[in-house]
Amino acid sequence: MLKAEHAASGGVELQTDEGGAGIRAARLTDLDALIALERHFPGDRLSRQSFRRLLQGGSAEVWVYEEAGCVAGNTVLLYRRNSAQARLYSLIVHPRYQGRGIARALLHHAEQAAMRRGCQRLSLEVRTDNAPALRLYQKDGFQPVRQIADYYEDHAPALRLEKLIASTM
Ligand SMILES: CC(C)(COP(=O)(O)OP(=O)(O)OC[C@H]1O[C@@H](n2cnc3c(N)ncnc32)[C@H](O)[C@@H]1OP(=O)(O)O)[C@@H](O)C(=O)NCCC(=O)NCCS
Repeated sequence: MLKAEHAASGGVELQTDEGGAGIRAARLTDLDALIALERHFPGDRLSRQSFRRLLQGGSAEVWVYEEAGCVAGNTVLLYRRNSAQARLYSLIVHPRYQGRGIARALLHHAEQAAMRRGCQRLSLEVRTDNAPALRLYQKDGFQPVRQIADYYEDHAPALRLEKLIASTM
């Protein structure tokens, strides 16, 4: 059974339980599953080569949500040297597993990791027509910064969102 708990910070953290459900760091052996998940992404999909680079380099963190041996979601966070801003590069949950709080848990996990690395802000780009994702990010406290025209391969615009995750004081 999946165990969802409200963390002290107010977020929801999915914890690994006896059934093997939870968030963990992605491994090279997850490549097939990561690529399969990308098919459910609305355009601009990450290639196997890109995922391999992300998993092997030091400037990204990739996590998966696994349940009963199935990779049901993933998120990718990018860091830049000497920058207090991390970038949420990808977040996806397989349609069969959507609506259960998994994306929110992955997002919360990424925010905690960015804070631990000393980042103060998180940024991301989202399609302006991606209502579920926009709602997720807005409910989590992300603010629109600007619209970027012709951002995606199909020329659709993106909205840049940012969230302050740690005090600048
Ligand atoms: C967007 C996405 C990641 C949400 O995953 P999910 O696990 O179903 O989301 P959660 O169950 O954690 O929902 C968290 C919040 O997101 C919002 N949300 C999720 N699905 C939604 C939908 N279909 N319609 C409206 N809001 C939705 C809601 O605010 C929800 O909170 P609530 O249920 O308390 O209202 C998922 O739909 C997905 O993988 N889409 C394809 C890939 C994608 O677009 N990724 C984002 C790219 S920037």
